[in-house]
Amino acid sequence: MDLTLHVWRQPGPGQAGQMVTYIDEAKDISPDMSFLEMLDIVNERLIAQQKEPIAFEHDCREGICGSCGMMINGQAHGPQKGTATCQLHMRKFSDGDEVFIEPWRARAFPVLRDLVVDRQAFDRIVEAGGYISAPTGTAPDANIVLIPKVAADAAMDAAACIGCGACVAACPNSAANLFTAAKIEHLNLLPQGQAERYTRVTAMVDTMEDYFGSCTNHGECQEACPKEISIDFIAYMNRDYVKAQLKNRKLAGQTST
Ligand code: SF4
Ligand code: FES
Repeated sequence: MDLTLHVWRQPGPGQAGQMVTYIDEAKDISPDMSFLEMLDIVNERLIAQQKEPIAFEHDCREGICGSCGMMINGQAHGPQKGTATCQLHMRKFSDGDEVFIEPWRARAFPVLRDLVVDRQAFDRIVEAGGYISAPTGTAPDANIVLIPKVAADAAMDAAACIGCGACVAACPNSAANLFTAAKIEHLNLLPQGQAERYTRVTAMVDTMEDYFGSCTNHGECQEACPKEISIDFIAYMNRDYVKAQLKNRKLAGQTST
């Protein structure tokens, strides 16, 4: 198939960018290629013309590392629901299509170059509490702790988050509540996560609010998420956050209840 690509090109952080159109470089694209393989072909053709290739992030190309996100025709990760950009195939497009490709658009994710954004704000949230510091033993010890199946299943669903940032890019407020909730609740739902449950939720939510907008329940995050993480986890996070505030007030002797 022959495509017309409109790609955001930006030489560096804080520099002016623009949409650049590619027609000849996007000809003879196989429908069996992945979206990233299509960009590889375009880049090989640009390099052959001694032009700068399009910078985009990728690693696993299996939908598990979360690095490949981009806006495709205005949708985070493109038109296929529950699919990361690297797992999207060109058969989802038609011969003659125009395809607009842009980086994530969010203040907390500044553009580094072309389609590559800096997602370090996510790292700051995880650093604030996305771990268990209590000794939990070795791997066999973990299997000795009985975990109700519903809790194990819910924790596993939250742990599916690959940290891609599509939820932020899709949100009209650039909120990171779905990511933060997934990273909190995959620990808070397990017995091993209970000791730090309330300090974790407070630290991670407070850090999130330093960088990202506020959630107003649009639900766009859930729709854009390649791992189909449910916004139910945001409700669990909010429940834990409220409980943490009450717990802290009790500790401070500010309430008798
Ligand atoms: S919640 Fe979904 S969209 Fe957001 S970072 Fe995790 S995997 Fe990506
Ligand atoms: S390249 Fe790893 S999720 Fe797409």
